[in-house]
Amino acid sequence: MKKLIFLTFSASVLFASGLKVTVAPVNNELYIKECGSCHFAYPAGLLPSNAWNKMMNDLDNHFGDNASVDEKTFQSLSKYLNDNSAEKNMNYKRSKKIVESLTSNEIPDSISTTPYMKKKHKEIKKELITQKEVKGLFNCTACHQNAKKGIFSEEDVDIPNYGKWDKD
Ligand code: HEC
Ligand code: HEC
Repeated sequence: MKKLIFLTFSASVLFASGLKVTVAPVNNELYIKECGSCHFAYPAGLLPSNAWNKMMNDLDNHFGDNASVDEKTFQSLSKYLNDNSAEKNMNYKRSKKIVESLTSNEIPDSISTTPYMKKKHKEIKKELITQKEVKGLFNCTACHQNAKKGIFSEEDVDIPNYGKWDKD
């Protein structure tokens, strides 16, 4: 825990202004191995626990793929996701914003379909999201250069075939 706080702290100092660590980065090897093989290992702090549980309970029908794991792995991953889910990480800006964007009985099916994520990405041209170098909004790392460090800032976005995000 101490180490994590230190890393988070030094990263926020290192990247001045907008480039702050705003989601707790993934720090679990089993999670990276099992849930980072087909796509970026999404930080647990990007969804509330009810959404993780819904997803974990339907892993054999995971966005058209079979992502099921054995019982021991299931228990371990579920615990990790629940212990680090968005509502338990409200000191991180993005986790807090995601939780606050959901109505109390709303259980999102994915990160990219939460109201907060939809709002944040509404100004991007559709062709830039669906192009083959990106494929969809689910592919965070295609545009967010420092996603693995828990940094999601409009200032370090680099969209394939477009470049840096122009705020104006
Ligand atoms: C066999 C491949 C595979 C594995 C293993 C896998 N996923 Fe996925 N996952 C997918 C696919 C396919 C999608 C849909 C988006 C895409 O095409 O990448 C997806 C989407 C997601 C999304 C939604 C992204 C968004 O749009 O917000 C989350 C969250 C997610 N996976 C979590 C997990 C977790 C947690 C695990 C481990 C238990 C896992 N995935 C393991 C294939 C996989
Ligand atoms: C097609 C490229 C692209 C993909 C894919 C993408 N983003 Fe973004 N994201 C952007 C751009 C561009 C912005 C800035 C939009 C704006 O300011 O209007 C942004 C903004 C954000 C912000 C707000 C940043 C800020 O400074 O306010 C967050 C948080 C975020 N994205 C998270 C994610 C996550 C999590 C994923 C994956 C589930 C993702 N993004 C996928 C391009 C992308």
